[in-house]
Amino acid sequence: MRRKLVAGNWKMHGGLSRNRDLLQSLAQAIGAGGGADYAVCAPFPYLAQTQTLLNGTAIAWGGQTLSEHAEGAYTGEVSAAMLADFGCRYVIVGHSERRSLYGESNQTAAVKFVAAARAGLTPILCLGETLEQREGNVTEQVIAAQLDAVVETAGVSGFAGAVIAYEPVWAIGTGRTATPQQAQDVHAFIRARLARRDAALAQRVQILYGGSVKPQNAAELFGMADIDGGLIGGASLVAQDFVAICRAADQ
Ligand code: 13P
Repeated sequence: MRRKLVAGNWKMHGGLSRNRDLLQSLAQAIGAGGGADYAVCAPFPYLAQTQTLLNGTAIAWGGQTLSEHAEGAYTGEVSAAMLADFGCRYVIVGHSERRSLYGESNQTAAVKFVAAARAGLTPILCLGETLEQREGNVTEQVIAAQLDAVVETAGVSGFAGAVIAYEPVWAIGTGRTATPQQAQDVHAFIRARLARRDAALAQRVQILYGGSVKPQNAAELFGMADIDGGLIGGASLVAQDFVAICRAADQ
């Protein structure tokens, strides 16, 4: 049995006082740990605050992206080592918003994945198709290309210390969740594709689902054979909702 992980992605939301309330509520409700692992991915300026408030709890934290470079003249960028300096365990790589709004390619995701792993962080690699791609019946080709680019750069062994998140773009922030079976089918496809290179490793990799996960649908999604937890956007900003989703993963 793979352990489940529920990770919150705050995206560009929050502020000092709102974060304090949220983090204190989470620490109180799930900070002692449970049957699953928990994490929150905060905007860069709030990582120090997140570290202070979650230190010593069972809730890990991480960044939402990182630079592919280790150091240098890259104004505005944040390196993997900087995230590690603030106690991050995770970093999201290749989120669909990074791909669509900031021009990140499959290759960009691959080099960022390697940069994260090199600094001892656990990359959460996001894969997902657009509505147009799903309707055009190219979901598997899209996912395969996104995954293969990282496997070719990092090696399949790079996934020993990584997490994958399947996030169909059409389900992100839309309230339109993939059905448990739609998600399961893609999760099984991802695992099978990794298994062609390393069957034992593929069985161990956590594959999260993301896209309009709510307390109302979390348990059913997490009950599917290849869904190992969730990457949560909107609902991760509401303590009660995030805690309920974490509890669904504890089962
Ligand atoms: P929502 O849960 O708001 O749909 O966002 C999902 C997501 O993009 C998490 O990374």
